[in-house]
Amino acid sequence: MAETPQADVIVLFGGAGDLARRMLLPSLYFLDSDGFLPEGFRLVATARSDMTRGAFLDMVRADLAARPEGLDETVWARFSARVEYVAADATSPEGVAALKPHLEGVRAPIFYLALSPSLYGRVCVALAAAGLASDESRIVLEKPIGRDLESSRVINVSVGAVFDEDRIFRIDHYLGKETVQNLIALRFANTLFEPLWNNLTVDHVQITVAETEGVGERWPYYDEYGALRDMLQNHMLQLLCLVAMEPPADMEPDSVRNEKVKVLRSLRRFTRADAQAASIRGQYTPGVVGGKTAKGYEEERGEPSDIDTFVALRADIDNWRWAGVPFFLRTGKRLPERRTQIAIQFKGVPHSIFGNAAKDDLTPNRLVIDLQPDEDIELLLMNKAPGITQGGIRLQSLPLSLSLLKAYQGPGARRRIAYERLLLDVIVGNSTLFVRRDEVEEAWRWVDGVADAWKEAGLTPKPYAAGSWGPAGAFALIERAGRAWYD
Ligand code: NDP
Ligand code: BG6
Repeated sequence: MAETPQADVIVLFGGAGDLARRMLLPSLYFLDSDGFLPEGFRLVATARSDMTRGAFLDMVRADLAARPEGLDETVWARFSARVEYVAADATSPEGVAALKPHLEGVRAPIFYLALSPSLYGRVCVALAAAGLASDESRIVLEKPIGRDLESSRVINVSVGAVFDEDRIFRIDHYLGKETVQNLIALRFANTLFEPLWNNLTVDHVQITVAETEGVGERWPYYDEYGALRDMLQNHMLQLLCLVAMEPPADMEPDSVRNEKVKVLRSLRRFTRADAQAASIRGQYTPGVVGGKTAKGYEEERGEPSDIDTFVALRADIDNWRWAGVPFFLRTGKRLPERRTQIAIQFKGVPHSIFGNAAKDDLTPNRLVIDLQPDEDIELLLMNKAPGITQGGIRLQSLPLSLSLLKAYQGPGARRRIAYERLLLDVIVGNSTLFVRRDEVEEAWRWVDGVADAWKEAGLTPKPYAAGSWGPAGAFALIERAGRAWYD
């Protein structure tokens, strides 16, 4: 294995696409603003559109100026000087050869594929044929890596034929979110939680990723994937892994990823009975979200579809730590609020010493980790309610709060884009927060099992009004297990 030098160029395929414009180019600009881009570092944006460098820069500048942070002219002068634009078809060696003059003498280029995954294999072949893929170059792949286990293997094999696994950076942008990394710190930089982090003390775990946005114009992509493959296979299973994994020996990429993959392998296979009793699919119909009327998915798409825009299910991890602890996962579009939250529900006290008056107030502890919209960690603890009462004390549950919001206050402070952390890691060659091939494939194996079980059970999406918390079955499935969602 060759050493990992700091990269000196990033080639951004799909450089004028939606992801590049909304996330990647602003992230690189902010990294430059904070002094993280190495001296001489260059950005070569490429797409097929015939555009001059000037026109490309005008577009990027307008995008940055429209952001709430505004444009800093000094940073822009430095950043724009790093940027080049090349019009090329990435899928042919002749097209990719147009990049060659821009990569003369470059030791460690990053090839970032912000392209449709169906092109990944051909782009890698073209890079190799054009002699641009060296053993120090890195390749960054956006999700989704395939649509199921088989198609993900095809992509992994074709990329792997050109780049070694330790040069492949599979992005799951949730791993770049501040609170997701804070979850690792919370678990492994404190002695407090680890002894409690198991089936002796934890009753269940809830992971919710709720979005108010609909699918809109993305439906041609979404209709092939649905909530199960678009969100649960990647972002939600990654969150589950970080909650459930054993402590890694260190933060080396493979130490962390070995532990995550063990969790994925321990997920109990979904059966037809689980599909019926422990999962629900939904699809939004017209409704009201945030006071505004919203179309149904069928109206957005123009015709009926049997894809899920909402999914809720119970996952079980068959290992010593988590046996008997259900993990309830739910995600959906057009829900009443934007919320990404992990809730660790602890068991109640074994015996109450407080008598009948306080019995109903005694609620078990809960650790709530909010990722979005605010980044916040709260531990709900029982306290004595202030004041005096006849016959004993009254209890109340109050949060011990670790508000990360405060960290964003003060001059110049801002909330980082998740891609900033990840791009910086690619530049320095640290793949801890990227997804290894076996992780992607294990996640697909489990998700394929869910999709097969749904098919066997004939489970179709149930309608839910935009602005509601999903179909009634989402409540029934958790209530059947004697628990309730925290809405
Ligand atoms: P877009 O369709 O907006 O952009 C695709 C880009 O690829 C365009 O710049 C297009 O430009 C270029 N392109 C297409 N075909 C070729 C080709 N043969 N050779 C060279 N360039 C080509 O897609 P997105 O930016 O939305 O998505 C890109 C990737 O990121 C996908 O894998 C997607 O799943 C993933 N992703 C996107 C997210 C988002 O929020 N947008 C979120 C998470 C993942 P031109 O037509 O000029 O060639
Ligand atoms: C993307 C999905 O990966 O994540 C989108 O394709 C989803 O459908 C998005 O909207 C959510 O990301 P975030 O960071 O806004 O929660």
